[in-house]
Amino acid sequence: MLNWDEFHEDDTSVAESKPSYQPQPPAPAPEPEPEPQAAEEVPTAAHEGTRYQAAETDRLARARQSLEELDVAAGLEELEMGAARIEVDDKRMINARADLNQLVPFKYEWAWQKYLDGSANHWMPQEVNMNADIALWKSRDGLTEDERRIVMRSLGYFSTADSLVANNLVLALYRLITNPECRQYLLRQAFEEAIHTHAYQYCVESLGMDEGEVFNMYREVPSVAAKSAWSLKHTQSLARPDFNTGTPETDQELLRNLIAFYCVTEGIFFYCGFSQILSMGRRNKMTGVAEQFQYILRDESMHLNFGVDMINQIKIENPHLWTPEFQDEVTQMILEGTELEIAYARDSMPRGVLGMNAAIMEEYLHFICNRRLAQIGLKEQFPGAQNPFPWMSEIIDLRKEKNFFETRVTEYQVGGALSWD
Ligand SMILES: [Fe+2]
Ligand SMILES: [Fe+2]
Repeated sequence: MLNWDEFHEDDTSVAESKPSYQPQPPAPAPEPEPEPQAAEEVPTAAHEGTRYQAAETDRLARARQSLEELDVAAGLEELEMGAARIEVDDKRMINARADLNQLVPFKYEWAWQKYLDGSANHWMPQEVNMNADIALWKSRDGLTEDERRIVMRSLGYFSTADSLVANNLVLALYRLITNPECRQYLLRQAFEEAIHTHAYQYCVESLGMDEGEVFNMYREVPSVAAKSAWSLKHTQSLARPDFNTGTPETDQELLRNLIAFYCVTEGIFFYCGFSQILSMGRRNKMTGVAEQFQYILRDESMHLNFGVDMINQIKIENPHLWTPEFQDEVTQMILEGTELEIAYARDSMPRGVLGMNAAIMEEYLHFICNRRLAQIGLKEQFPGAQNPFPWMSEIIDLRKEKNFFETRVTEYQVGGALSWD
């Protein structure tokens, strides 16, 4: 439990990281109110307090003046002061005219429920014990070269991919989703993406990997770079400050972004690396990294489901956007993403490893591709593709309490409460 006594004045962590900061002595007590002075009197050192008081009074007067001059009418117009209260029917996923500052009344209960579920699943990377992984990674023959390649490729792709997703959320998508309960989930998701990037950094640091090599893989290893470049391409138009929805073309552009990020980046690009690392954990290797990936996968499956719900709701509210041509185009996008992930599987698994190989992964990715298409109402492109990794579905449904506390690092503290005494 945190206590106010724990915050000491000699805690200089901020001062150490910012050398220019110098603790200031306490401000002197103000002088007593002086007697009014004659205007022509020459100021002396004894009158410093008077000038201080006068300056304060002048500043206050200017603040009051500024408030009087403030265009309050414009501000009230912005707030729609006195307008009719917001009704559920005023709310829309995109292009809503309703006030976006009010969370309630809810229109999309599913969005609020996902915010609650995501918050209930909160976790932090330091809660996972990495000791066995450190010993295995540093031992000379603990892992084969092919297994080491998988760990490096996964951390290389994911350490940057989650930043791409977070940047897309915050810099491109957020302002265009005009619904407060969806925005509430987007804020939760953005924080989860920060936790995921933290988790990858935590693994890299714990294992003593070359940070430069891992964090630059997205522009140095072609199979990793191709996936990152594909995602980035779909964030660019929305991130332009002058981009706005409101026409069929721009609304479709927003839908392309949602499909590129939720269905492809988070829904396909993560699945080869996730299944490889989790297969490693099932063989009792790199169990700490695998546990981090389990919690990330659980979060990601909720991000994916939220994105699918948003896409389908936008389709319901704007059926004119979902033309046959547009359906063809986004089917093509999902197929492109599947091909890129298959290429990544071949590059990260040049030989069979961990009971997998590139051909089995290809079948799994065809199965995943079918799922993504079906989730947004499109025709499956690989009829009959089977899931060769049924254990992945069990992991996605993992509940926090299943095995979380068995490996929890006890020094790490969450949910510290403040005490007033
Ligand atoms: Fe993530
Ligand atoms: Fe995500």
